[in-house]
Amino acid sequence: MSRLLLAPMEGLADDVLREVLTHVGGRVGGYEQAVTEFVRVSGTLLPNRAFMRIAPELRNGGRTSVGTPVVVQLLGSDPACMAANAARLAQLAPPAIDLNFGCPDPCVNRHRGGAALLGEPDLLHAIALAVRAAVPAAIPVTAKMRLGIADTSLAIDCATALAEGGAESLVVHARTREQGYKPPAHWEWIAAIREAVRVPVIANGEVWNVADWQRCREVSGCDDVMLGRGAVSDPYLVRRLRGLAEPVATEAEWQALLPAIADFWRGVQAKVEARHAPGRLKLWLGYLRRTWSQAEALHAAIRPLRTPAEVSRVLDALVPTPPSAAASAGTLREAA
Ligand SMILES: Cc1cc2nc3c(=O)[nH]c(=O)nc-3n(C[C@H](O)[C@H](O)[C@H](O)COP(=O)(O)O)c2cc1C
Repeated sequence: MSRLLLAPMEGLADDVLREVLTHVGGRVGGYEQAVTEFVRVSGTLLPNRAFMRIAPELRNGGRTSVGTPVVVQLLGSDPACMAANAARLAQLAPPAIDLNFGCPDPCVNRHRGGAALLGEPDLLHAIALAVRAAVPAAIPVTAKMRLGIADTSLAIDCATALAEGGAESLVVHARTREQGYKPPAHWEWIAAIREAVRVPVIANGEVWNVADWQRCREVSGCDDVMLGRGAVSDPYLVRRLRGLAEPVATEAEWQALLPAIADFWRGVQAKVEARHAPGRLKLWLGYLRRTWSQAEALHAAIRPLRTPAEVSRVLDALVPTPPSAAASAGTLREAA
């Protein structure tokens, strides 16, 4: 069976959005797995609260409320320090630990993290090996990589280094760091990596709809796909790909999504400072408007607003607050 994973997206898919997206995906027919935003490891042994902040799901057995396992991602460049932090994280029993070798952020890269390490396969190997050795065998260690920094010349070396270091599976985002998020994604490179390594490879990059997913699987040869911005733009995408929702978005889906948007808004308000909350909703609506013209209109209505109270007034007019939600702000109730 073909697995669908929800991608890590720092500043976008935090626990609040993961909860909403996995809930809309559903217990049956939704994501097999989600991955957290990266936890930055740089020189110190992080306290438990640092992992809990990025992955509050650890308090719920490492799962969202519909039961989707949430893998915790680490980003860092020092094998010993990564290993020590992974060992501490392992005590919190995450479903798996993922290693980030894909982040293109110049700030992260300047400190030798993320995609900046793709020029050093030996270091990738050392990190995977050290983390694998530090974590109990029952907890899988996985990795996520891009194709390289400026070119793909070390893509196979990096993938092999990670697999031989003990990564149980590899997500390959089919672009170099220099290519950023610019289309296309080079899925044919995923096929080359798949042939070179013995571990399962999961394809990632530019899957926005059913046709992309089919082509991505054909070209990469991978059964499993990780969805990033496509999943944020279209929360029903995971169900469309499984044939459980219409192949293209409908008006009825937008109506059905409104309570989830309201849940997201409650969750964001409960979590972040009031001055940052409207920005989080605008960010998500900015993605949703790729799929629904109604999201475009809602985004336009909310864009000039600065305070949560103003935003709530607009949303409340669209979605009446259910009585139980007012009592338990920030938590989604699982559909029966
Ligand atoms: C806003 C944003 C934040 C991201 N943060 C992370 C991250 O924390 N860790 C990671 O491995 N990848 C991160 N990525 C990369 C995505 O996981 C994914 O590889 C990329 O978006 C390509 O997939 P897509 O075309 O389906 O979006 C991020 C991407 C975006 C757009």
